[in-house]
Formats: sequence, C-alpha cells, structure tokens
Amino acid sequence: MEGRRDKLSAAGDERSMVMRRIVVTGGNKGIGLAIVKAILEEHNDAFVWLAARSPERGRAAVQSVIAERPQWADRLAFLKLDVASDESVASAAREVVERHGQDPAPVHALVNNAGVAAGTLQEVVHVNTLGVRRVCEAFLPLLDPTGGRIVNITSAAGPNFVHTCSPERQRFFLDPDVAWPALEQLIDTSIAMGSDKDAFAAAGLGDGSPYGFSKACANSYTMLLARAHPALRINACTPGFIETDLTRPFADAQGQAPADMGMKPPSEGARSAMFLLFGEPEGNGRYYGSDAVRSPLDRYRAPGDPPFEG
Ligand SMILES: NC(=O)c1ccc[n+]([C@@H]2O[C@H](COP(=O)([O-])OP(=O)(O)OC[C@H]3O[C@@H](n4cnc5c(N)ncnc54)[C@H](OP(=O)(O)O)[C@@H]3O)[C@@H](O)[C@H]2O)c1
Repeated sequence: MEGRRDKLSAAGDERSMVMRRIVVTGGNKGIGLAIVKAILEEHNDAFVWLAARSPERGRAAVQSVIAERPQWADRLAFLKLDVASDESVASAAREVVERHGQDPAPVHALVNNAGVAAGTLQEVVHVNTLGVRRVCEAFLPLLDPTGGRIVNITSAAGPNFVHTCSPERQRFFLDPDVAWPALEQLIDTSIAMGSDKDAFAAAGLGDGSPYGFSKACANSYTMLLARAHPALRINACTPGFIETDLTRPFADAQGQAPADMGMKPPSEGARSAMFLLFGEPEGNGRYYGSDAVRSPLDRYRAPGDPPFEG
C-alpha cells in the first residue's frame, strides 16, 4: 500500500498519473530545497525524495514544506543520504527500491546538489566530486534507462579554476574522451599535494583551490558519465551566485549585504537545474550557466552572454 501512495496525487483527475520520481541530494536547505519546491510547484506528476545527511534537518525541511503546502504531502518524502559515505548512499538506494520496487526503474532523475565550500582539498573533493560519483554509481541502476536524467550542480568556480591551469591541464579538463582512471589519478595526485600552493602551481593546477578543483573535476566526470550513458540526459550547471549558508560568510567577511554583492535568492538558483531536469538541453555531458545557456569549461561566461558553441 505504502509503495502506491506516491502514485496517487491529491487532485482527483491526477489519481492514475504515474509519478516521475526525483532524488535531490542536500535537499534540506539552500539551493537544494529551492529545487525541491520548484519541482513540486511546477510539476504535479513529480514525487521528490528530499535527501539529506541529517535525519533531523531533512525531516524538518520536509515538514516545513508540507506546512507551507499541505497538498504536497503525498509527493514528498525524506531520504537519509550522506554523499560522503558509501554505506549511507547504498542504504538510500535500497530504501528507494524497497518503497517503489526495481522494475520498472523507480527513479526518473537525480540532482546531485549536495556540496561544501570549506575544508581541505581532500574533504571538499570527497563531497563535491567523489560524492557525486558515489551517488551516480548507486542510483544509475535505478534510473529510467531511456530518458532518465542526472543534473550535477557544479559551479562557475570550475571553469574559473581551469582558466588558471597550464595549457596541458586545460586540455585535460576539456577532453571529451576523459576517462575515470585518469581523473581519479589527478584527484589522488592533488590530494597528496595537500595545501602546498607551490606544488599546485608547478603541476599546472593554478592555486590548487579545493572548491574550484572539485567542481572542475565534477564537470569532467559529467562528460565521461554522459558518454557512458548516451540514452540518459546528464548535464551540469551552476546555480549562479546565490545567498545561502555556503556564500553568506563571503558577504560577512566583506561586511556587505549579500544582495549588494550580487547574490540572488535560492529560488533563482533553481532555474538552471530545472531546465536540465525538464527542458530540452542540446547535447549531453555539458555545462550550463545560471541562465540555462551552455557555457565553456575553461572560462567564465556571464549570464546573457552568447551561448558557448564549441
Ligand atoms: N550558493 C552559491 O552561490 C553557489 C554557487 C555555485 C555552486 N553552488 C553549489 O550549489 C550546491 C548547493 O549549495 P548551497 O549554496 O545551497 O549551499 P548550502 O545552503 O550550504 O547547502 C548545501 C547542502 O549540501 C548538503 N551537504 C553537504 N555535505 C553533504 C554530505 N556529505 N551529504 C549530504 N549532503 C551534504 C548540506 O547539508 P547539511 O545541512 O547537513 O550541511 C546542505 O543541504 C553546492 O553543490 C554548491 O557547491 C552554490
């Protein structure tokens, strides 16, 4: 009975609708929560698993959404998922299968939104790059094999980082044929450099910014994953410069109001992800700007600038 609940929408004429189930990691706050709400608001055939590492924060987020919009209660559920833990990710995938079964494929789309900005390169990569891969590996077998989607929330910090790299490293990050062993080797080598900025500079890796490096690697991973799964739509995007717990410290450090620094509200940070989830992006394995326009991997493209055609 429980497994059928999400197939039944509150509205009478939607009762027989088959739900498109979407998992959003880091869904308890910030841009992730804004994506959860946008999906529920704009697509009444969508069921959202709001995934969060903390049951308290995740359940509180689900309750706050339902308190705002009680009619969404049947289309929203909490999923415990720490992207940094193999065990947690495997257990989350099992919970989805227990509730919905495995045939037909229980998940329409996955949004890899969970991310951190602070920490050592190892800590940041563990979540922002390896976490994305960990979740993709576990959920790919559950994803609709024809038309399923993966949206990786990366950042303009990725292209900005690549811009500071040597020509050889830039070629690596732009290589459409990049393979996981090579990317993994680069990650391992970079982790071994710790916070030695001279070592990063000598290796052609700019200043070794953990965040920029992790997001550049996540963009490369998006390319190789899309190549391996051509029947799926797998793309990455930046949400833009958005006021959240991740960015507020920058404004505090400058003694400025977030809006005065150009930060936008989380609802706007959901727009590029919503396009990649429900729109018609051209190609696969690409990186999009916050205006949902294709953007290059090795330099910043501002919203409103012409699309990248390379
Ligand atoms: N804000 C911006 O301007 C901006 C710009 C470019 C890209 N981004 C990207 O957008 C995404 C969302 O960031 P945000 O700005 O919304 O930041 P945020 O408000 O700090 O939210 C980050 C989310 O990620 C979750 N998270 C962190 N580590 C996790 C883990 N190991 N497992 C599961 N969840 C984890 C956090 O959960 P807890 O609550 O448990 O910590 C939280 O739900 C990130 O990938 C970030 O890099 C943001």
